[in-house]
Amino acid sequence: MTRGLFVTGTDTGVGKTVVACAIARGLVARGLDVGVLKPAETGVGADGPLDAQALREAAGVEDPLDRICPQQFALPAAPTVAAAAEGRPVDLAALDAAFHALRAGHEVLLVEGAGGLLVPVTATFCMADLAARWELPLVVAARAALGTINHTLLTLEALERRGLALAGVVVSHAGGPLSDADAANLEALRRALGPRLVGEIPPLAAGEEPGPGALDLDALLHHLPAE
Ligand SMILES: Nc1ncnc2c1ncn2[C@@H]1O[C@H](COP(=O)(O)OP(=O)(O)OP(=O)(O)O)[C@@H](O)[C@H]1O
Ligand SMILES: [Mg+2]
Repeated sequence: MTRGLFVTGTDTGVGKTVVACAIARGLVARGLDVGVLKPAETGVGADGPLDAQALREAAGVEDPLDRICPQQFALPAAPTVAAAAEGRPVDLAALDAAFHALRAGHEVLLVEGAGGLLVPVTATFCMADLAARWELPLVVAARAALGTINHTLLTLEALERRGLALAGVVVSHAGGPLSDADAANLEALRRALGPRLVGEIPPLAAGEEPGPGALDLDALLHHLPAE
């Protein structure tokens, strides 16, 4: 296994970047040198790749943005779709080159996927294949709101079927305080996950960072091979 984590999500917009940044900050606070990689970012506008920038800031690294995010596309769609719109395929060799450079340059590497596990990177290769290729255990970012039981368990089933290692699930409360129904629903997910739930990011104000208790970093570190 690679000494790192691949942060995927149950969907797009569920909190992968928020979760990956929280993990990066937590590991840096423990004295680790953390590299970050967003292999393919779509929806990139004039301000550049925002996920890659957030990850770079959280990890406090100086790697150039085009290494942290080697494939950038304007259309806010799956990488294959956004790439096709620009008349070029996603360049897997560029992803591998960035991965190997960042892996060699840092003690731990955090990778944020795009969308969820089965989102295509090329016609025959999806995000789950990327995590497998780079031998990274997965962190699954999940919504707190209704729908999350199904999305989370589907994602875990897909991981298991592919023989991928789960480091843990982190729920991010992006939608603010939960209704009573959503809270009861989330409690059912917590019970179903048991020790696989390794963190919950509470509703954050703009610019706010989660406190140190939001993530069980020991549980995540437990999945990383020793250096
Ligand atoms: N715990 C939280 N509190 C407040 N806002 C949150 C929280 N988690 C996520 N969000 C917000 O929800 C939105 C989606 O989160 P985020 O960008 O982390 O998702 P993502 O899964 O990385 O999305 P993408 O698929 O685009 O990479 C962002 O605006 C983010 O700030
Ligand atoms: Mg993101």
